[in-house]
Amino acid sequence: MTIIDPPTTTTSLKMSDNHESPPPPSSSIERQQKVVRYDLYRGHPNMHLLPHSEMKTIMSALVNDTSWHKSLNYGANAGDKRLIIALRAFLDRRTCNDDRGDIINIESTTTTTNRELFITNGVSHGLELICATCTQPGDEVWVERPTYFLAPQIFKSNGLIVKALPMMSDRIDGHGDIGCVDIDRLKHSVEEEGQPPPKMMYIIPSYHNPTGRTMTWEERKRLALFAIRHGVILVADEVYHLLDWGTKSLEHHLNSTVLNIQRPCGMVHFNALMQNATQNPTINSAGKIGCCVSVSSFTKIWAPGRLKEYGYIDSQGGVAPFMGTMMRHAIESNLLDTYLDQLRVEYAERCALMCDILKDEPRISIPSLNSPVKRQGGYFIWVQFPSGFSSDDFLTYSIENYGVKFMAGGKCDPFAEGDDTSGRCIRSCARLCIADLDREELASATATFLLAFRSYMELVQPQCT
Ligand SMILES: Cc1ncc(COP(=O)(O)O)c(C=O)c1O
Repeated sequence: MTIIDPPTTTTSLKMSDNHESPPPPSSSIERQQKVVRYDLYRGHPNMHLLPHSEMKTIMSALVNDTSWHKSLNYGANAGDKRLIIALRAFLDRRTCNDDRGDIINIESTTTTTNRELFITNGVSHGLELICATCTQPGDEVWVERPTYFLAPQIFKSNGLIVKALPMMSDRIDGHGDIGCVDIDRLKHSVEEEGQPPPKMMYIIPSYHNPTGRTMTWEERKRLALFAIRHGVILVADEVYHLLDWGTKSLEHHLNSTVLNIQRPCGMVHFNALMQNATQNPTINSAGKIGCCVSVSSFTKIWAPGRLKEYGYIDSQGGVAPFMGTMMRHAIESNLLDTYLDQLRVEYAERCALMCDILKDEPRISIPSLNSPVKRQGGYFIWVQFPSGFSSDDFLTYSIENYGVKFMAGGKCDPFAEGDDTSGRCIRSCARLCIADLDREELASATATFLLAFRSYMELVQPQCT
């Protein structure tokens, strides 16, 4: 089971006051060694932000509570009942202010439960299980461009054919709303042109990795309806949904009052539309019903019941029951809530720190700040360079001359070899992680990144616009 990652101390959280004086370029000897001094590539949580003290508290509490003895044994396939109850209450509490639009009326009259929890070992495990239980080799899965760079490999390992969803950035040379699915074109290709729908679609609707973009409520509803109509399993990777930064510190960057904008609800809520869809024979002509499945770390799957009939699940008797007991304690004692709230402030401040440094450079833009949903979250800042820019070449230059590593945009595009507009647009972007480095390092890394960019632009300026 994976947990969203925590801050406990404030000592390492002070902003560096010397980020305007980054270290000079490395010497030629260092250059040959390609020393990485600053790693903005790795999407890990910072070591100091892990829940050390919370885990100690939980372990001490467990010593005096024999309920954990049971968790040394096999457990229920979907996860321990007490954990599921605690998790449901936690999720309801943390998402009660999400925007559900008119779904809320349908949900309140729904008698069947279309939201089921299933404990997994994290998102990757959840994706693997969905592939194993709901797909056959040769089935198609359509993914966004760009996408979480490790997900396509999970699909391919299961024999699935990975194809691209139509994207807005396909349309307009380099300046489309990057990371935005072109739902009109998706519908047109299937409903008008007769293209067979895929078995599955994989999206990251909240605080996307890598773009940081959040889908609007309307986009979510249209995609969910498309999936339901055409018997598609819409897998929503909502690993960052709870990790948003609804704090004041970003307001001046976002050009709006962050706190006044509701977060659109998770995709699984749109399963309520299924009730209406099944009552309408024109919608369900293929006789198949699609649905939305949310996978998340710490670790929820709102999954089809079929998962429970899978041999591997039957045999292994529930995922990580002992860890599940720890997490139940974390939820029941409200440690997880406090910890998550600290993290949200921490990441908002880290984002503001990075944006403050980058804002001095007009040739670098941060598309998520202009996204239609003015909320930010997750681990990454996606930056866009001038069109025609190669972030791959810049990465090599940056590591060799400045020791700064980041993720070049093309790494997040499973179709990177093509020379289409989306591909070109994605290759002129980069993903910077705000979570991994200490704050002081993050400030120096960003300032050095900027220095590297300016120096690189002097070399390539004529080719970029
Ligand atoms: C969008 C996305 N999905 C899934 C994962 C991996 O999740 P897990 O560690 O729970 O398998 C990550 C980690 O970076 C991610 O960014």
